[in-house]
Amino acid sequence: MPDSAAGSVLITGASGGFGLEFAKQLEPAGYRLILHGRDKSRLQMTLDTLKHPDRHRVALADLNARHGLSELISCIENEPLVGLINNAGFGIWGSFEQTGIVPQVDVIKTDLKAPIALAHALLPALLRHKGFIINVSSLAGEYPLPYMSTYAAAKAGLTYWSEAIRIELDGRLRIVTLAPGPSPTGFRKISGMPRSTGSFFRTPIPIIIHAALHRLEKGGGYCVPGWRHRLLFAIQKAVPRRIGLGLMADNLRP
Ligand SMILES: NC(=O)c1ccc[n+]([C@@H]2O[C@H](COP(=O)([O-])OP(=O)(O)OC[C@H]3O[C@@H](n4cnc5c(N)ncnc54)[C@H](OP(=O)(O)O)[C@@H]3O)[C@@H](O)[C@H]2O)c1
Repeated sequence: MPDSAAGSVLITGASGGFGLEFAKQLEPAGYRLILHGRDKSRLQMTLDTLKHPDRHRVALADLNARHGLSELISCIENEPLVGLINNAGFGIWGSFEQTGIVPQVDVIKTDLKAPIALAHALLPALLRHKGFIINVSSLAGEYPLPYMSTYAAAKAGLTYWSEAIRIELDGRLRIVTLAPGPSPTGFRKISGMPRSTGSFFRTPIPIIIHAALHRLEKGGGYCVPGWRHRLLFAIQKAVPRRIGLGLMADNLRP
């Protein structure tokens, strides 16, 4: 294992989007990065964009597969883990009624169950090294989303859990709950959403990741990155739910 005085950081979902940007922005701090995902060739592309690819490594695991989580946990057992970035996730756009139950349960497994299980398994190492967790949630976790109902439910669960353990572990572990809005990653294509949805609020990826890492430097906390996402957050809080739900349904209805 190549030496890294700064310790190791596991980034789930590092094959593109936010995960790739976390890798780029964390590498200069000297960490050894464990880049997790399912797509080996895209993970190799992430590795190739880094300045010291020999210091890092790739970990393949499908978080929805029967043994995916346990395989991922056991392959980082011997790492001096200082950081966990629970970033892997996806959403599905469409009516609850017409979307199959398997992909909906898979959203819960990847976006909610996996982060909780990973944090629990890796907590002893993270506490030993006075480390950190960044949970990539979403502004979807702040509001029920008609036609993305299961995704919003998973992210609401993730936000609530992340904020609760942040207080429980205060002073022993730094935790950031990152809640971005629409962003230009592979997410939209995979979820099936039309390109136009939420386009005004779209915020560049580097700004989002920089905001999360800045919040981490400040000791952790809840982070809504960039002014456009903060505006969306303010609207979510200001508009009465009865009206907001109707607006969201009009915006997201297939
Ligand atoms: N983009 C947005 O608008 C937005 C807004 C708020 C929050 N988020 C959240 O940001 C996080 C990162 O997503 P992104 O926007 O960067 O999208 P992305 O480019 O599609 O990246 C998603 C990552 O998650 C991984 N992943 C998905 N399902 C997986 C599974 N079953 N097992 C293992 N890995 C899996 C993918 O790995 P493979 O490619 O290897 O399958 C990929 O690396 C997600 O949690 C998402 O919910 C996104």
